Amino acid sequence: AEVVVVDSKAAAGALIADEIAELIRRQPDVVLGLATGSTPTPVYEALPSRLQGVDVSRVRGFALDEYVGLDPQHPETYRNVITREVVEPLGLNPELIHTPNGDPASIEHAGDDYEAAILAAGGVELQILGIGTGGHIGFNEPGSSFASQTRVKTLTAQTRSDNARFFDSIDDVPMHCVTQGLGTILRARHLVLLAFGEGKADAVAGAVEGPITSSLPGSAIQLHPHATVVVDEAAASKLQ
Ligand code: F6R
Repeated sequence: AEVVVVDSKAAAGALIADEIAELIRRQPDVVLGLATGSTPTPVYEALPSRLQGVDVSRVRGFALDEYVGLDPQHPETYRNVITREVVEPLGLNPELIHTPNGDPASIEHAGDDYEAAILAAGGVELQILGIGTGGHIGFNEPGSSFASQTRVKTLTAQTRSDNARFFDSIDDVPMHCVTQGLGTILRARHLVLLAFGEGKADAVAGAVEGPITSSLPGSAIQLHPHATVVVDEAAASKLQ
């Protein structure tokens, strides 16, 4: 992967937002791969000013993952997060922005349905990724197959504890999610993995320079012909 070390989150956001805005100008119905969590917010915050006067009405998008079993009204469903952080501020058409279906009633086909929707859209052009402290991308926790497709996974205790900050208590963090697989993610044409802070340094070093192993799912990016890693100094601190 190409590694770009930036001074600040804002610089990372500006860099990637420029690229996304250019993509949308060139291809107004481009398919974007959207991540949630804290990491991508500088990108989303930098986008509106770059999209002034740009037709975004046909932009399509697929989120990486969704919690299983949260009330659809809960502010932390990834559907609601994407609506709040991406769809509304950018003025996208919500019908063209997809998130996996975390409703337990339809969980058996949620993965296959999502794969079919991505395929029908022609695949993802640019996939934004964060990385978990344990090395996950999407919610592909250690042990995930590199060929995996969208499916239900169990969140690790580490991930539930990392994400407890978004909930009233750790007990409210769902146990399960529907996540794009590593195989799904690897089919996107360009991967952009972002990471900030020293808490991500081990995961970044493992993903970029460690052995390619399902013990560190982010290392799957080494198999991708066009992967860009954008990190601040702290997240880069354990790279050789
Ligand atoms: C989010 C996702 C996760 C996060 C990762 C880092 O859609 O799939 O892989 O990117 O857990 O989370 P943050 O950015 O909150 O540190």
